[in-house]
Amino acid sequence: MEPDQVVREFTHQSESFNRAPVMRSADTLGRLVDLIPAAPGERWLDAACGPGLVARGLAPRVGEVHGVDMTPAMVEVARREAAAEGIGNATFSVGDATALDVADAAFDGAVTRFSLHHIPVPGRVVEELARVVRPGGAIVVGDHVTSPDGGEAAWHEEIERLRDPSHWACLPPARLRALGERAGLVLEREEEIPISIDFEEWIARGSGGPGSAGLIARALAERVPAPDVFRVVDRGDGRRLELRYWIGVWRRA
Ligand SMILES: C[S@@+](CC[C@H](N)C(=O)[O-])C[C@H]1O[C@@H](n2cnc3c(N)ncnc32)[C@H](O)[C@@H]1O
Repeated sequence: MEPDQVVREFTHQSESFNRAPVMRSADTLGRLVDLIPAAPGERWLDAACGPGLVARGLAPRVGEVHGVDMTPAMVEVARREAAAEGIGNATFSVGDATALDVADAAFDGAVTRFSLHHIPVPGRVVEELARVVRPGGAIVVGDHVTSPDGGEAAWHEEIERLRDPSHWACLPPARLRALGERAGLVLEREEEIPISIDFEEWIARGSGGPGSAGLIARALAERVPAPDVFRVVDRGDGRRLELRYWIGVWRRA
């Protein structure tokens, strides 16, 4: 996605993203932080860190964590929230995850969550994370995934882009695995977890969603049953969007 489009969308979402329950939940944040193989004293990078939820979650377990994000408003929220929480070992800066201004092997490990689907060259991000992590260090990616079926994936992407114009493309797990392999990484562990989001909150948070609600409703009605990578259900507690969230933990050789 155009950098300007990303910055516009995430300036719009900086506060609401930070507050969104799904972004702080045990499934999306707790599980990822638990799987990060960090050790006390280590230096970690959180790429495309947004409001620093992952960096702040990781801070108690490491020596130091640095978050980088392209959207200045997100970096401001990350700094403010880290200070409010009394976190003294997290720093944040504005930067591009596809071309990090960081020396080779500068970190013990790197993580990125919910970012690759906004980036037209996700492989470049994984290669950058591999470059800035020392040999033997870990690279962790968490993102929601799409179907390996081209028709289902195209339908899914149309809805995502109607709701958030900075959305580029979710990948199926096999393509995420291939990105790590291409960067020379060894996959140590992976998990695929079903996650559930308040559908109305999700629509309201995206800058395109409220204006595109009619088109989104039509797209949803056109594919019944919906694939399990993107399904809107009502089990009596309001409409929920069910997605599949993939976490991969790689090691740099
Ligand atoms: C959905 S948010 C995820 C934020 C955070 N990783 C989290 O999971 O809480 C996506 C973030 O990626 C950032 N982003 C998108 N493309 C980027 C790039 N090329 N370099 C750095 N940040 C980028 C956006 O500014 C936004 O803050």
